[in-house]
Amino acid sequence: MRKKIVAGNWKMNMTVAEAKALVAGLKPELANFREVEVVVCPPFTALAAVSAELQGTNIDLGAQNMHWEKSGAYTGEVSPEMLRELFCHYVILGHSERRTYFHETDEIVNRKVKAALSWGLHPIVCVGETLQQREAGEVESVITTQVRGSLAGLSPREILDSVIAYEPVWAIGTGKTATSAQAQEVHALIRKILGQMFDPAVAQGVRIQYGGSMKPANARELLSMPDIDGGLIGGAALKADSFIAIAKAAI
Ligand code: 13P
Repeated sequence: MRKKIVAGNWKMNMTVAEAKALVAGLKPELANFREVEVVVCPPFTALAAVSAELQGTNIDLGAQNMHWEKSGAYTGEVSPEMLRELFCHYVILGHSERRTYFHETDEIVNRKVKAALSWGLHPIVCVGETLQQREAGEVESVITTQVRGSLAGLSPREILDSVIAYEPVWAIGTGKTATSAQAQEVHALIRKILGQMFDPAVAQGVRIQYGGSMKPANARELLSMPDIDGGLIGGAALKADSFIAIAKAAI
């Protein structure tokens, strides 16, 4: 049985003051919530403050990116050790915005995934096709390349410690959600690829989140599909009431 996982990707939003206020809004409903794993991923600048606010709660902390090295001359980067120091449990890697605007390739994502795992962080590894790729009938080949490339060389233990997020690029921030059938089809494909890379029993244990305009109105239907094990939420994670509603829809 895979425990569902709902994560808020705050992206480049929330000052420290705003982040504290958002967490204060989440705590009454989610601090002791156990049916679903709940994660918030603030920007780097708010991690320390949010970490302090989350102490003693059941809400986990995640980051949105990291470098693969422990330390060194990488101006502007943040290391896995620095995230661990702030009690991060998760780190989003290979988000389509990182792939598009910051030219992250599957090879770079793979390096980061391996580094995260070696530091005891759980990577949330994002994959997803663009509208152009979907319309050209390339969903299967694009997803296969991203999954195989981003997760190359992991052990069965490491893939079980990872979370995959299927985020169709055309659904991110657009208000256009994949239908539950469209999402389920790709989630099943991802699980099939994992079965080939590892083994089918291992693949059954890996959690695969859906991301892309998930909101309270569509969360329950998406989350009821057999291979959808949670959500990676952007816009709707910036307001306490909508994020709480989505977390509860995952029960
Ligand atoms: P939206 O929920 O705003 O579409 O963003 C999804 C996303 O990119 C989460 O990582």
